[in-house]
Amino acid sequence: MERLQKVIALSGYCSRRKAEELISKKQVKVNGELITQMGYKVNFNDFIEVEGNPLNNIEEKVYYLLNKPRGIVTTTKDEKGRKTVVDLIKTDKRIYPVGRLDYDTTGLIILTNDGELTNYLIHPKNNIEKVYVAKIKGLITKDEIKKLCNGVIIDGKKTGRAKAKILKIDKKTNSSVVELIIHEGKNHQVKKMFEAIGYSVLKLKRESIAFLTLDGLKSGEYRQLSVKEVKKLYGEKNN
Ligand code: URA
Repeated sequence: MERLQKVIALSGYCSRRKAEELISKKQVKVNGELITQMGYKVNFNDFIEVEGNPLNNIEEKVYYLLNKPRGIVTTTKDEKGRKTVVDLIKTDKRIYPVGRLDYDTTGLIILTNDGELTNYLIHPKNNIEKVYVAKIKGLITKDEIKKLCNGVIIDGKKTGRAKAKILKIDKKTNSSVVELIIHEGKNHQVKKMFEAIGYSVLKLKRESIAFLTLDGLKSGEYRQLSVKEVKKLYGEKNN
């Protein structure tokens, strides 16, 4: 049994506070009955309607952390029939990926059916830290690293504060390896940031999101997040 406002928020319909507002405005029904009592307890089999809309995503919440291999799409279904990140996880729940990693990008991705956590993790105001390691073509300079940190223009907008450091400069193969830490999640953000300073990305891996890392997970492996980890994620604001 969970509190009604929590279940509404978990479905991703709106925030917990907004759900409380809707309950007090008599906009929420459970099994056809109008509910105004705050904290009313429901279970995952109850039929909940909010502002006349049935909530169809109130199953028990699950959370997975996957080490995504290269050559896998980050969607629930691919129209070209390619393997998706969801195909790699054995579950009967309707999970989906939080955010996106490109087909050729590897590394950490969270999958869940918790709409509230998804909204929380992808909203830029929550400043969730993501660490990437990129192998790029060419020999990057310290000045160019500074440019990445100060923000570069991608899609007509300046990127937010970032941290970057050179991990390797390889003159023989004419390539560099850079760690880039960002708090946003624009489409192809890392590749576009390097493009903005004249470099193309040869390989890209996401090493971590907030305090979650790939420790103990080989490529293609996954594990469930603990209740403690999920709670900690909600508390995560790197302001
Ligand atoms: N930035 C990119 O360019 N690609 C990814 O897959 C993730 C971040």
